[in-house]
Order: sequence, then C-alpha cells, then structure tokens
Amino acid sequence: IGRKKYVIANWKMNQNLQETLSFFQKIQDEDGVEVVICPPAPLLLPAHTQIMQEGKKLSLGAQNVHQEEKGAYTGEIAANLVKEFGCQYTLIGHSERRQYFQEDDQTISLKVKRALQEGLTPVVCIGETLEQKHQAQTEKVLTSQILLALEGVNPADVIFAYEPVWAIGTGESASPEEAQKMHHYIRAVLSHIDKKSAEQIAILYGGSVNETNAKEYALMPDIDGVLVGGASLKVDAFQKIITVFA
Ligand code: G3H
Repeated sequence: IGRKKYVIANWKMNQNLQETLSFFQKIQDEDGVEVVICPPAPLLLPAHTQIMQEGKKLSLGAQNVHQEEKGAYTGEIAANLVKEFGCQYTLIGHSERRQYFQEDDQTISLKVKRALQEGLTPVVCIGETLEQKHQAQTEKVLTSQILLALEGVNPADVIFAYEPVWAIGTGESASPEEAQKMHHYIRAVLSHIDKKSAEQIAILYGGSVNETNAKEYALMPDIDGVLVGGASLKVDAFQKIITVFA
C-alpha cells in the first residue's frame, strides 16, 4: 500500500565497542527499507562515527529517553543528546521499560512528546502480557496504550511496534496471521483518530523475529516491518531480515 518499510534492531543491553564497530563495518544498507539500529546509549556516538566513515544509509535510534528536557535526573538520557549523537529515532515504552522500570502510559505519553519536540521519531511499543491475553484483554490493552501514547500529538509522526510481551525473547512468536489480525485492529483504532494518518502509519511486529520467519511477516498487508531483538545481534541473521523487507 506504499507505506515505508522498517527493520529496527534493538540490541538491549548487549554488544561492546569492538562488536559494534565490526557490526557497522559488515552490515549493508539496502534500497526500499529503512534500517535503524538501537544500540546501548554509550555506543551511539561510536556507531554514528562508524556509519559516517562507511558512508552507509543506516539510521540510529535510542532505546529510551527521559521525558524532561534536562536536569537533576541521575543516570537518565536526554533526548536532545541522543539527537546530537546521530539518532533520528527512539524506542518508547518497550515492555522491558514498562516491566522493570515502572514506565506507565502517562510517562510514555510524556516521552513521546519529548521525543517529537527534539525532532526524534518515536517508535512506540505496545502489546499485551500473557495474562492479559488469557483474560481476552488484548484489544482493550492495545486501545488504551495507543490512545494514551497519542494524546496531544499528530498520529502521523509516530511509528508503532506491536510486541506481544509473551513473544519477546521466548522463541514463541505470534503467528503471522495472529500478528496481522492485531495490526489490522491497531490500524482500525488509529483510523478512529485520523483516517488518513492511519493508512500511512508504520506498524512493526516484534517478538522472536528471526531470519527464518521474517518473510512470513513481510507478506502480511498491515505489517510494515519488524523490531528485532536477539536476531539483530548477529550481522548475518540481521542482514537476511533486511533483505526480506527490501
Ligand atoms: O525490541 C525487541 C523485542 O523485544 C523482541 O526481542 O526478538 O529477542 O524476541 P526478541
């Protein structure tokens, strides 16, 4: 339907400096797909320098930013700083942030606004837990996550990543049909807010995506790319996933 395709790597708290430099030497950009790597924050600047040296069409994203512009928030990461270090994107509200760092929808809404103010495209992560799925709460949870994340912002400026929490790092991915069904639902919720934007917004799938199953997701009409954890750490596997969406 002419929407832009995205393949995003979330390295989480993995990779060291040497592995990062070697990854960016080897990985190749490909036409027709926006490739975004989200390394740990201290690796952003060396990654940016390496991308510039290699002259590759690769983008960088942060894994998280703080909602305030600056101030006494020890250990936190300012959105304008990651922008200065070469980021165009930032993940917001990844389920690990929600689970281990008590990020709620209110905080996530503030972070989305902060990212946009600093000129970063927020990749907002949404998804239900296993318990919510078993209680048939998935649609309700997704709707409320979407509405709160978009409060006061133009929906067209945001990317969504649907990551069912039960599929993250477990090897138990949502089937492509199951993911398509939820992506279609997410787009329907978005179209209640703004019909035109809903057709343009990229919705990515995340959760145990690898070089073998990626192509099945790519065939689905409402899946505009993938957010990859484990399989993004190995350059060969990640390159194959890029090729699928190119
Ligand atoms: O952000 C990425 C997701 O958490 C997926 O991680 O591919 O290791 O399941 P995973």
